[in-house]
Amino acid sequence: MSDVAKIIIDGQTYEYPIFTGTEGERGIDISTLRKDTGLITLDPGYVNTGSCTSEITFINGEEGILRYRGYPIEQIAEKSTFLEVAYLLIEGKLPTQDELDTFTHSIKSHTLLHEDIRLMFRAFPLRAHPMAMLSSVMGALSTFYPDTLDPYDPEQVKISMHRILAKMATIAAYSYKYSIGHPFIYPRNELSYAGNLLHMLFATPAETYEVDPVLERAIDVLLMLHADHEQNCSTSTMRLVGSSDANIYASVSAAVNALWGPLHGGANQAVIEMLYDIRDNYKGDGSKYLELAKDKSNNIRLMGFGHRVYKNYDPRARILKKMTKDVLEAVGGSSDILEIAMQLEEIALQDDYFVERKLYPNVDFYSGIIYKAMGIPVNMYTVFFSLGRMPGWLSQWAEHHANPKARIGRPRQIYVGANERDYVPIEKR
Ligand code: SDX
Repeated sequence: MSDVAKIIIDGQTYEYPIFTGTEGERGIDISTLRKDTGLITLDPGYVNTGSCTSEITFINGEEGILRYRGYPIEQIAEKSTFLEVAYLLIEGKLPTQDELDTFTHSIKSHTLLHEDIRLMFRAFPLRAHPMAMLSSVMGALSTFYPDTLDPYDPEQVKISMHRILAKMATIAAYSYKYSIGHPFIYPRNELSYAGNLLHMLFATPAETYEVDPVLERAIDVLLMLHADHEQNCSTSTMRLVGSSDANIYASVSAAVNALWGPLHGGANQAVIEMLYDIRDNYKGDGSKYLELAKDKSNNIRLMGFGHRVYKNYDPRARILKKMTKDVLEAVGGSSDILEIAMQLEEIALQDDYFVERKLYPNVDFYSGIIYKAMGIPVNMYTVFFSLGRMPGWLSQWAEHHANPKARIGRPRQIYVGANERDYVPIEKR
């Protein structure tokens, strides 16, 4: 295979090196294109454009492969834990027991929020979406730690990462408790990350709350499955905001907002709302909804289906589909919407429209059904996605800053507006 790409412009041939990654992915390095030719490339949505090289996550969309630092997601989900995955993504290797214990102790030492931050929640209307509270409080956290915001000081970055990983769960739980008018439940550091999250969400001062080990493990797996996914919309946002040397809290706040969109992390909430719609307005028959999703005259999409990279079954969806049944058995619940989801998947995967476009279930298609079975409210699903994705955002942000060639992200454009014209005084318009 050639390691040079040739572009002919106005009769002149330009050569650009082809860069090959460790898994054989190839990209044309056009970093001198505009200087050489005066031209730029155009690629709306960056479908064909790589923003960086990265050692963190590998995805093969055609084969449905996902690996964190080389470890297959299937093995990670079966054998690891969320905090171990956070260490793996951030530090680049699986920890020894001592390293994991030290990391876990550090995270557990930062679960509390400054008492003044608790007052911040009072400023939100009761029906505020938890994602709005999460991004606001996360951005405000930087004001409590003004002395550790230097993105180039490894110790300041480390303590900030640990604070964010620890406090994000507390903020998430507080945002839920605030929305239902319940008192905030303080973190309990003797519990696991997932167990503490469940406790802060569902415990009340009035009675003891026992963490169900099945739900605790299910939450841990859900968080691991969401931990990183290379240069998706919110991670690219994290890198772009970080590239201006904005502090890590500001970058996380921006990433949370990017994830909130229903085309991205907000899809898990949109999937459940879609399944309820099919149950309540289409008598549970997904086939009519499928026709709507194929009809270009409306903007209805089959939420939880399709992916920019996966043109095969999302390996995370495969794991979650199996886990859904395990959780339902554990909580002794049935799920009418699970039946609808499985019927929807079956007919979509046989429908030419979806087959031709290689649209398969993605990570969001089943996750909401599991959250619902656990009693987690719909508007918290994307918050859980944010919690899971946190180590990915942080590791990608750090990888950007560790790259000596990293620059501020500033895409170009092709102008198609009005040509030069003179200003017209208002009385003459
Ligand atoms: C996540 O990037 C990541 O890695 C994201 C993520 C992560 O871990 O960070 O994996 C998490 O965001 C998963 C995706 C969650 N979103 C949804 O489930 C929303 C529904 N899906 C789509 O809107 C869509 O598939 C996207 C946004 C996920 C991908 O959009 P693309 O890559 O821009 O694809 P596209 O819109 O160009 O679609 C190609 C074609 C179009 O039809 P044609 O113009 O070719 O006729 O497929 C159609 C689209 O209309 N299409 C769908 C569809 N998804 C794509 N039609 C109906 N229903 C859908 N779900």
